[in-house]
Amino acid sequence: GERPRLLVVANRLPVSAKRTGENSWSLEMSPGGLVSGLLGITSQFDTKWVGWPGVDVHDEIEKNALTESLAEMKCIPVFLNGVFDQYYNGYCNGILWPILHHMGLPQEDQHDTNQTFETQYDAYKKANRMFLDVIIDNYEEGDIVWCHDYHLMFLPQYLKEYNNKIKVGWFLHSPFPSSEVYKTLPSRSELLRAILAADLLGFHTYDFARHFLSTCTRILGVEGTHEGVVYQGRVTRVAVFPIGIDPDRFIRTCKLPEVTQQMNELQEKFAGKKVILGVDRLDMIKGIPQKYLAFEKFLEENPYWRDKVVLVQIAVPTRNDVPEYRKLKSQVHGLVGRINGRFGSVSSLPIHHLDCSVDFNYLCAIYAIADVMLVTSLRDGMNLVSYEFVACQEAKKGVLVLSEFAGAGQSLGVGALIVNPWDVTEVSSAIKEALNMPAEERETRHRSNFQYVCTHSAEKWGLDFMSELNGIIPESEMQM
Ligand code: UDP
Ligand code: G6P
Repeated sequence: GERPRLLVVANRLPVSAKRTGENSWSLEMSPGGLVSGLLGITSQFDTKWVGWPGVDVHDEIEKNALTESLAEMKCIPVFLNGVFDQYYNGYCNGILWPILHHMGLPQEDQHDTNQTFETQYDAYKKANRMFLDVIIDNYEEGDIVWCHDYHLMFLPQYLKEYNNKIKVGWFLHSPFPSSEVYKTLPSRSELLRAILAADLLGFHTYDFARHFLSTCTRILGVEGTHEGVVYQGRVTRVAVFPIGIDPDRFIRTCKLPEVTQQMNELQEKFAGKKVILGVDRLDMIKGIPQKYLAFEKFLEENPYWRDKVVLVQIAVPTRNDVPEYRKLKSQVHGLVGRINGRFGSVSSLPIHHLDCSVDFNYLCAIYAIADVMLVTSLRDGMNLVSYEFVACQEAKKGVLVLSEFAGAGQSLGVGALIVNPWDVTEVSSAIKEALNMPAEERETRHRSNFQYVCTHSAEKWGLDFMSELNGIIPESEMQM
């Protein structure tokens, strides 16, 4: 039969356009876990993507040209002209992101009346309307609309107001905070009501879903049942769908001749040393300063290891126009300088900190040759990087040191060494334990991780969400 038609709506399209000249762009794969996860759901559905193309385009001819080249990839652009800065840098990543990750609201700027919480909130709602308009232009009866992440919390409400027959799902790729933290958000009730308009809400873990339900109770006074939330006589299903990766893509890539060649080169470069690897967007939720402090303590207390280990940190650039991210960057650079100054020599440096993204083949090669992967997120939706490392370690069976505050900490709790990233002493001892771990124990732990990663793929995640959503009949049809 025909494959069900699906509109996947997210702020990030799977590809981002980069301007290469007048009216010309290159399309590159977008960074981040949301896009990696979504790429796993293609085959079963007739999917179209709706999202921001990664560039600001004003000229109509240019817009049309970009729209056409995106159409080849089944992508439909939403041009966020006029609102992008306050919507994305302001409300999404300056306000919602820190709240969702228990980091607290920044102090509101008292001097700039053009950029307040309120103007950013208005831009956020306008941006959500712009997504709605593009969906309306492309919607065909029967399409299922799956909205993603904290950028689009108003979209379920706007979609249902437009046509309450549309089946609408919404999935949160970040954590949902404790109600005590969520409560500080000035627009807390409106946002909750807006997502409750969806038919199905999905979260990565039980803890996040539970936080959401108790937040609904505390703020809206509604009861959460095992089914979901009943608000104004209408049921919104709430369920847990832990995302995964496409493990075969990593396993296949690790076998490519050019990738094994890259592995050999890396192994030669680090000969005689153990490699500890970090791969994170340079985001405060990733606990990169904490990681460096723990590594510094490890070097301090273990002189034996000083010339036998390197920490390679790929710090993928991200959200550079948000002030907090710039501060983080200089803080991290300061730490790297201090630690390399203390423990480095003319011929070797303990930390290799790279402010760049890497291509997929190189990423697989470096995952595969690492001895230890170090994930110290202070709070993280799932953390796919930890799964990707596991998928690339069939030969080496390295050790994953993983924060208990990443969603993945709950799924890889048996195979990984679980740490509290705030506890520098604990992380430092975990590094030591990982470096000294006997082959047999590494093998057992790797088997357990690998088994999980292979059985909980992104494809399964997408199918589970969609079949749950499909089993739900929109209210308007039930009444007929
Ligand atoms: N990644 C990337 N560019 C890089 C290095 C990594 O796009 O240079 C990918 C990585 O493979 C992973 C994603 O970025 O799929 C990060 O996802 P994760 O869930 O770990 O964290 P997020 O960035 O979504 O917070
Ligand atoms: C996280 C968010 C995604 C986002 C990604 C990259 O995974 O949950 O929605 O796409 O980070 O961040 P960016 O701001 O560059 O899209």
